[in-house]
Amino acid sequence: MSGDDALIAAARAAREHAYAPFSNFRVGAAVRAKSGRIFTGCNVENATYGLTLCAERVAIFKGISEGERGFEAVAVVTDTDTLTPPCGACRQIIWEFCGDAEVILANLAGRVEVYRMSDLLPKPFDVSNL
Ligand code: THU
Repeated sequence: MSGDDALIAAARAAREHAYAPFSNFRVGAAVRAKSGRIFTGCNVENATYGLTLCAERVAIFKGISEGERGFEAVAVVTDTDTLTPPCGACRQIIWEFCGDAEVILANLAGRVEVYRMSDLLPKPFDVSNL
């Protein structure tokens, strides 16, 4: 199994834990740290809606909280024909913690598209602007 396939499989498994009773839109994510460790996340919704955490941010924050710094790839898995790209808030967080990482989008039917963060978030705001 390639590195991308392993990351997709991890995101797909994490999606099973999605807590999405309000949208019923279940998302799984996985990030591969430069150390090689993989961290997974699912979306976690909330009755206020606005406090919802996306799967991507859950996965990244799990890695950060375990001491990782720097990630090289992110996978996002949904059950949609049109693959699901990270939302704007997640693009900002992915850029700040993962830099110009590979972003792998996949669905349950096996469709896969690969992007780079610099294409998804051109002209980002980050620490270099402070
Ligand atoms: N969601 C994610 O977890 N990641 C994305 O890339 C897009 C959106 C979640 C948030 C919310 O729980 C549901 O999908 C619908 O927006």
